[in-house]
Amino acid sequence: MLNLKERAAEAAVKHVKEGMVVGLGSGSTASIAIKMIGEKVRDGMHIVGIPTSRDSEILGKSVGIKIGELKDHPQVDVTIDGADEVDPKLNLVKGLGGALVREKIVATATTMEIIVVDDSKLVEYICQKSPLPVEIVRFAHEATVRRLERFGCVPKLRMWDGALYVTDNGNYIADCKFDRIDNPAKMESDLNLVPGVVDNGLFVGLAHKVVVASDRGIRILEKKK
Ligand code: A5P
Repeated sequence: MLNLKERAAEAAVKHVKEGMVVGLGSGSTASIAIKMIGEKVRDGMHIVGIPTSRDSEILGKSVGIKIGELKDHPQVDVTIDGADEVDPKLNLVKGLGGALVREKIVATATTMEIIVVDDSKLVEYICQKSPLPVEIVRFAHEATVRRLERFGCVPKLRMWDGALYVTDNGNYIADCKFDRIDNPAKMESDLNLVPGVVDNGLFVGLAHKVVVASDRGIRILEKKK
């Protein structure tokens, strides 16, 4: 009997076909999808995987997926990735796993971005449950954090094993607790104008399909054309 994350991953992996360039997402649900793609490769399918993190690269290699880079494969056919929140317009919060910068780069290059979640990730508005991860450079990070407070949030530098968490890109993450975000598109671009901010975990208009697994089965939410 599959659990909810496995059921969502299984439904998404059906979109992976012979010869495709496939974005390999990060996080626990995307990792299940990567292992399922590995089974297809073992059964003879040829695909190239574009990882969204060091972890997804290591996992992809370990299950036999040929790993490529965006410079050689600038258009990704399908990416399967997780999310921390999904609102009714399919805006996302991502980055609690720390991979938001590479995830957004790969999502932006993707023809069909499929997000795999269980129904606990569905929210009425952005930042209803999750803080918003913002990746910032190390230089003068205290000053950058203070500037983030001006957006009306409470930023907290992410810690890991008693030290500041460092992303695959060598940066820090400020997890910013907002009461709610009503205009994610504006917040996404405004935050990215702060010197020292690399990118933030708001993904606006990037998800084409969201596969939601719940006790009642699988539901597919589609981006409105
Ligand atoms: C990684 O940086 C995140 O964007 C993940 O995609 C997100 O945290 C979802 O992870 P889970 O599938 O583990 O909930």
